[in-house]
Amino acid sequence: MRSNLLKVLALGDVVGPLGVGAVSSELRKIKHSLGAELVLVNGENSYIGNGLDSASADAIFRAGADVITGGNHSLHLHDMHDRFDEDPFILRPINLSPRSPGKGYTVFQLKNGKRILVISACGQVFMDPANSPFYAVDKLLEELDGKYDFAIADLHAEATSEKHAFFRAFDGRINIMYGTHTHVQTADEMLLPKGSACISDLGMCGVVESVLGVKIETIVKKYMTGVSDRFSKAEGDVALCGALFSLDMDSGFVTAVERVRVVVPQAKCR
Ligand SMILES: [Fe+2]
Repeated sequence: MRSNLLKVLALGDVVGPLGVGAVSSELRKIKHSLGAELVLVNGENSYIGNGLDSASADAIFRAGADVITGGNHSLHLHDMHDRFDEDPFILRPINLSPRSPGKGYTVFQLKNGKRILVISACGQVFMDPANSPFYAVDKLLEELDGKYDFAIADLHAEATSEKHAFFRAFDGRINIMYGTHTHVQTADEMLLPKGSACISDLGMCGVVESVLGVKIETIVKKYMTGVSDRFSKAEGDVALCGALFSLDMDSGFVTAVERVRVVVPQAKCR
């Protein structure tokens, strides 16, 4: 029987040049070996001092990503704002001020003609001020009704409670939902009752021997002494973390969600 499965690979926050290097070196191979047709990457920490720069965006796309989603650091680099406005596949959270540069969703067309709505949103709990992601996404789905076939959302947020509430709120309306931002992969991937799938956090594409991608000594000193040095990105082998979702395009149900974690030696990340 003909399989009508769409495999979607989502990777969590790419952290710094080594994260970008690991994506550049390995993403295409991983995409091929997992049979992923659509690849989404959260790129808001790709630049060395956070944010997304043009060279990193180019490298992530060249490596096989179709859409780059965002978060609280997306608009950090002012000279990227025009690109956020113009590039249809680079997103910032939808629930920022409507006057922010860029946009929070895109519709990606697959080779078979199916239209995939990809939404980038951010949370409100323990995060920079933003409007309600629940309201913004609900309104968007209503506005775009009939203009897409399947939907995917990256909720860039700190609190698992907010993420799980979001997943339950949109079960059956957004097929694939995942969290980013904490840089720590969670083990709560699940299929939901109305056919969607979710995981609280994909984890990061960043250096393993680090605290969330930052040099260990810098962060430990901050917590030990209360003195904050300039954050510098860690060095070492990189783990590419994310999840692979299998979407049955006949039923619209996600049939599987699996965590992905591939360690890339530092020497391959240049
Ligand atoms: Fe973030």
